[in-house]
Amino acid sequence: MSEQDQARSDMDIEIPPPGTDDRAAIGPLRLRIKRQDGPGTPPYWQPFEVPERPNMNVIECLMEIRRNPVDARGRRTTPVAWAMSCLEEVCGICTMLVNGHVRQSCSALVKDLERPITLEPMTKFPVRRDLVVNRQRLFDHYRRVKAWIPIDGTHALGPGPRMDERDREEGYWLSRCMSCACCIEACPQVTQDQDEVTGFMGAAPITWARLMNLHPTGKMQAVERYEGLMGAGGIADCSKAGNCTVVCPKEIENLESIAAMNRQISRYLLVDWLKG
Ligand code: FES
Repeated sequence: MSEQDQARSDMDIEIPPPGTDDRAAIGPLRLRIKRQDGPGTPPYWQPFEVPERPNMNVIECLMEIRRNPVDARGRRTTPVAWAMSCLEEVCGICTMLVNGHVRQSCSALVKDLERPITLEPMTKFPVRRDLVVNRQRLFDHYRRVKAWIPIDGTHALGPGPRMDERDREEGYWLSRCMSCACCIEACPQVTQDQDEVTGFMGAAPITWARLMNLHPTGKMQAVERYEGLMGAGGIADCSKAGNCTVVCPKEIENLESIAAMNRQISRYLLVDWLKG
């Protein structure tokens, strides 16, 4: 931007008069939060009221409650526990049910939400406390499908292998997955009480296997990934409901990933059978 353009755009910025706080509260905001004091303890609902400010998101409401842990009836309580990190819908850790829909709480602006706002932890993972869940099951499934590319060491390996442009573009789209677990929460095949090993793994590990198989080095472990995707709780348990694609905040075609990996596995099994 030229200096003149910069000066012109600076003049366009409205400077509030001194003493004006554009973040002043515009009213009370009511929330209902599903709380749980620890793993295995009974959940309960608690109402809260926080001062609403312009452009507030759900995380700011939780921070307000943390600053002043008093419920809507004026009773002192414990601060609500939740997880957050990037605050810009990149890490996925703040995922919860906002008004019954699974999404990231950092990108949920209160002005867009129906009142009272209800917050609940995801239902397909064990609750650690309040809105914090244990997503270990997801990471165990990443291990099962070898959702990484092995390296020879931590020394400089030079530029990586060249990739076909179509693979690179497809891989870029898949690499937007932030392991937020929305796809698992929305999947009807994943149940609350399922066995952690034999229950359906959900879409994210399958999409990650597809991503790693696209890479020229990652391809070398493709067969190990196929083995990880087969068997109990694997790709064959998908019912093709497609919720995983609908709820993905990064618009990843998870159902297409599942179809792509099914094709790869079928091809692998056919060739293996022909080889005898
Ligand atoms: S805090 Fe990272 S996605 Fe919300």
